[in-house]
Amino acid sequence: MTKKLSLFCFLFFKIMPVCFANKPDSVYLLSYTTSKSNNTNGLHFAWSQDLTKWESVGNEFTFLWSDYGRWGTQKKMINPYVILGRNNEWECVWQLNEQDHAFAHASSNDLVYWGRQSYPVLNKGVNCLQPIIWYNASADNYTVVYKSNDGKCYAVSTTDFKSYTPAAEVAPAAYNDESITAIIDGVTVKGQMHKVAWAVVQKLNQTYEASSFKRTENSETTVQHAQRFAELKLVDVKLSLLPAKAKAISDMLLGIFFEDINYAADGGLYAELIQNRDFEYSLADKEGNDTAWNSTNSWSVKGTGTAFTIDSVSPVHKNNLHYAVLKTVTTGAALTNTGFDGINVKKGDQYNCSLFVKRNIGRGNLLIKLVGNNNVVLSEAVVNASTSSWKKISVVLTSSADAKDAYIALLPLSAGSLSLDMVSLFPKNTFKARPNGLRADLAQTIADIHPRFVRFPGGSVAHGDGLGNIYRWKNTIGPLESRKPQRNLWGYHQSAGLGYFEYFRFCEDIGAEPVPVLAAGVPCQNSAVGGGGQQGGIPMNEMDEYVQDILDLVEYANGPVTTEWGKKRAAAGHPKPFNLKYIGIGNEDLITDIFEERYTMILRAMKQQHPEITVIGTVGPTFEGTDYEEGWRLADKLSIAAVDEHYYQSPGWFINNQSFYDKYDRTKSKVYLGEYAAHLPGRPSNIETALAEALYLTALERNGDVVTMSSYAPLLAKEAHTQWKPDLIYFDNAVVKTTTDYEVQKLFGQNSGNEYLPAEVIISSSQDAVKKRIATSIVRDTKTGDVIVKMINLLPVATTVTIDLKGINIANTSAIKTVLAGKPADTNSRPIVSSISIGQTFTASLADYSFTVVRIKTRE
Ligand code: AHR
Repeated sequence: MTKKLSLFCFLFFKIMPVCFANKPDSVYLLSYTTSKSNNTNGLHFAWSQDLTKWESVGNEFTFLWSDYGRWGTQKKMINPYVILGRNNEWECVWQLNEQDHAFAHASSNDLVYWGRQSYPVLNKGVNCLQPIIWYNASADNYTVVYKSNDGKCYAVSTTDFKSYTPAAEVAPAAYNDESITAIIDGVTVKGQMHKVAWAVVQKLNQTYEASSFKRTENSETTVQHAQRFAELKLVDVKLSLLPAKAKAISDMLLGIFFEDINYAADGGLYAELIQNRDFEYSLADKEGNDTAWNSTNSWSVKGTGTAFTIDSVSPVHKNNLHYAVLKTVTTGAALTNTGFDGINVKKGDQYNCSLFVKRNIGRGNLLIKLVGNNNVVLSEAVVNASTSSWKKISVVLTSSADAKDAYIALLPLSAGSLSLDMVSLFPKNTFKARPNGLRADLAQTIADIHPRFVRFPGGSVAHGDGLGNIYRWKNTIGPLESRKPQRNLWGYHQSAGLGYFEYFRFCEDIGAEPVPVLAAGVPCQNSAVGGGGQQGGIPMNEMDEYVQDILDLVEYANGPVTTEWGKKRAAAGHPKPFNLKYIGIGNEDLITDIFEERYTMILRAMKQQHPEITVIGTVGPTFEGTDYEEGWRLADKLSIAAVDEHYYQSPGWFINNQSFYDKYDRTKSKVYLGEYAAHLPGRPSNIETALAEALYLTALERNGDVVTMSSYAPLLAKEAHTQWKPDLIYFDNAVVKTTTDYEVQKLFGQNSGNEYLPAEVIISSSQDAVKKRIATSIVRDTKTGDVIVKMINLLPVATTVTIDLKGINIANTSAIKTVLAGKPADTNSRPIVSSISIGQTFTASLADYSFTVVRIKTRE
């Protein structure tokens, strides 16, 4: 079916039935929720002509969700109360939970699109239950009355839902709830009844119908292909270059998203082998009741005669309070650390071992042992541990054998008391042999993508779980013992050993632009800590300091060594500037007034002080909805250079939305697609997800004039410590395991261009579904002159593509062809490189479910 015909059928069969000729002028509309899923079901509508028989719009389709507090458990809408207010604007208030002293509010002019949510905090009562609202036409203001557990009722009034009068106690009679009850689909619900024009219900129905049509279309997977494409035979594609239409595209299109999720940093890319080296693990790092997650985690004493305790008096540094104390009565026992699921060492490799030591009682040495399988000692060294104040000691241990589950043992060689901190075991062989560097194999796997930029440190980690958890770059630089470790919102610990200096250095080492992302003065809206999420923005009287922190980052990265922050960079070993050009502000934030105030401050300061830096804003966690719309509105208002879009969607979504950016206004902000991935049920990475992403990446190349950057997310996941799937690269202590989706990123990264060469595409099939599953893109890399043709076939049949390279002077009669192919569920397919004969016109056969790249040398 052609696109036009399928749209016609959709409109005719799905929407037209509600446009019947004999329609009522007006009907009753009920706004309500159900208490399903612990009150997280949002706002629904039902309509009736006679107040008896109610028809629910889309069987409890949700038109408004609450966005207050923690994902999954706290985003509740209890007792929504909807009225029609000033200028035909709909106002909705609702209860958030049983304890908080706030209610929620949102407005809409059509009941479909709802604006920003706000959560006004109240000054009276114990909590805020069952808020109701009415409009006082004579005073042109609104009154919200709520109940409280102290048995009283309170009222506030407002004209704009931004500022409210202080809550005042009112008589219970003032609580004038005009809700009615109705039976909808056999269930009795309570809601507000409104008399509305039929067109209002019609629009609600159309919204539901369009949404369910899209949901069905986007949930299609390759499982349906056998039936869907049963009649399909070989498809022919003709591709004729239109060289006159060539356009410049971004040369930064493909980069990487690095976040410390899934143990990506400590225990992952950061090469440190000792877990909890600083004894700073704390129960607060975890949301659960993991009592073993404390200062002693991963440490234990083997043998008897030595007691191991934790102390915090006179620490090595005030940011690193806890340390180990060993009280030895009889020698022989050792304090041991098993690393992150064991320590993986290689025969002949050298390891830098360092620690801070302080003798409390007695004198004597410390024996350091690296112990492998069957308690075989792989290396050992004796160090003097008689110092009476903290002293850093370093030795090199060379392993005599391979071992996957080695551990380190620290044995006091005399009786007495000894304090130890910052116990580190670091491979000498880090990526590019950097001290305090990165795990070589993992870093190389990332470098192989040829990313043009690295985004760090998140993701959600950048804006953090509650105000106190916002990632502060200044806490992550300087000597390791002075860095401030903190809870990772993914439920573990960040040592900050991999900090801003190391991120910048890694970018330089792989020739990628650094793209740090900083919080917009608000923590994650899904915060569990602090309650209620993002309405706890950084207090305005602290915002100047926060803005200064961001300005200081530019000085740290780029400033002369004579400046305060440039000097710190030089002290870390990098006097030359890092040449920072981009900064991201905000990550998927809820766009509220609280957000806007802080975001605007930061953006204005950056524009004023550092117009040379491209600032990237944020437009919410998905490709539509309030935060996306409001985020874009703000981007227009503030003339932001680029915005960060995120969407994790089904392969069907990527297939059906290839034209997403074709419609984008080229005069507005550019787009950084900062997080995306194709998600199938079960979250595998396979040929189906990889090809859906490849197909979409060709659409990004086509739109490379407006989409200037993109990064798949997340990047890394340590097996057995994975909070989020799928990821691009999995690993354990010894092995790096790439995915099919990684291969796609690598093929695009290694075959990027800075000029897009449009082509006329003629596909032999007239089926829209077939056309959508074949994608092509031709780019030129003007540095090498190479022309690169990318072709994706997401169909169960082979495809033949005839390519007419009109206007291109090919240099050779053969080109390099790389093919990634397999069955949709295959997880182990890897690219195969061969050569292909080419001419000015040539034919390439695309296997079913395949991605082919042909790289062609050209001459002037
Ligand atoms: O990529 C994983 C998470 O997804 C990121 O931390 C967050 O920005 C998004 O919700």
